Amino acid sequence: MAKEMKNIMVTGAVGQIGSELTVALRKKYGNDNVLATGHRTEPKPELRDSGPFEFINVSKRETIEEVVKKYNIDTIYHLSAILSAVGEKNPKLCWDVNMNGTYNILEAAIEHDMTRIFVPSSIAAFGPETPLDNTPQETILRPKTMYGVTKVAGELLCDYYVKRFGLDVRGCRYPGIISYETLPGGGTTDYAVAIYFEAVKNKKYTCFVKEDTRLPMMYMPDCLNAAIDLMEADLSRLKHYSDFNVTAMSFSAGELAAEIKKHIPEFTCEYEPDFRQEIADSWPNSLDDSAAREEWGWEPSYDLAAMTADMLEVLTKRHAEGNLGY
Ligand code: SER
Repeated sequence: MAKEMKNIMVTGAVGQIGSELTVALRKKYGNDNVLATGHRTEPKPELRDSGPFEFINVSKRETIEEVVKKYNIDTIYHLSAILSAVGEKNPKLCWDVNMNGTYNILEAAIEHDMTRIFVPSSIAAFGPETPLDNTPQETILRPKTMYGVTKVAGELLCDYYVKRFGLDVRGCRYPGIISYETLPGGGTTDYAVAIYFEAVKNKKYTCFVKEDTRLPMMYMPDCLNAAIDLMEADLSRLKHYSDFNVTAMSFSAGELAAEIKKHIPEFTCEYEPDFRQEIADSWPNSLDDSAAREEWGWEPSYDLAAMTADMLEVLTKRHAEGNLGY
């Protein structure tokens, strides 16, 4: 009989994706069945008060063991990671958290005979030699950032655990994720989030990539569905495990600014590229996610127009209440 996902742990639960994924998982599987874990940052009240919370350090195996035993964990969404821009400033930390963290999670999963593990990858797995447009599922993976190196190695490691130990590990290559609850922590695609907050607050934004920089992106509700649907998918249908391309839209920084201007006509955007331009230039313009569509029914709901309308509605209301949180 297939093992069940009863006691779920989320690592990186205080982060951009984790904070919202934890709440979504609690709604679906029950508040007490989803343990949120973070490293140092205090969780917001919604996260802290809706279910259990513990501090761990994923690069220290014993801290994982302690909570896995205490809560009898059988399923992990492993979201803690150092993102691309912070990773370039501190490559050692990026390797330690992303590689040793993932290794420790996989080892804990084997040790405790766990049901299923989710480990996300990223468009950062690609590099300048990868075809830029409609990037295929199977392609050249030669990233030039430490974050990207850890993502490729992580995909390979996860697939190794599937084949070698029969562990059920799944993951997708997320594009830039846009959301309003928790700000991203030091990635290259952060401009696509910051621009909305600045547009609402100051009616202007200085973007750290060039106007014509085009990247694949996704709105948070689709990001959450991708994780949850992939984890719920029938294993026998999967031909891939840890490296599914997923995308929802692609736009340039200039097109994003133009879409915001439709709602806030006085909004202006300037472009002052910094070190993150080179990282953005090494990532695809758009992705082919047909494997995810075929193997587990992936289908995004939000395009640029729908996302922008929703983001601006929420942020404008919060700003009027003095509650923008930015
Ligand atoms: N959004 C991430 C970053 O920019 C990519 O996975 O680092």
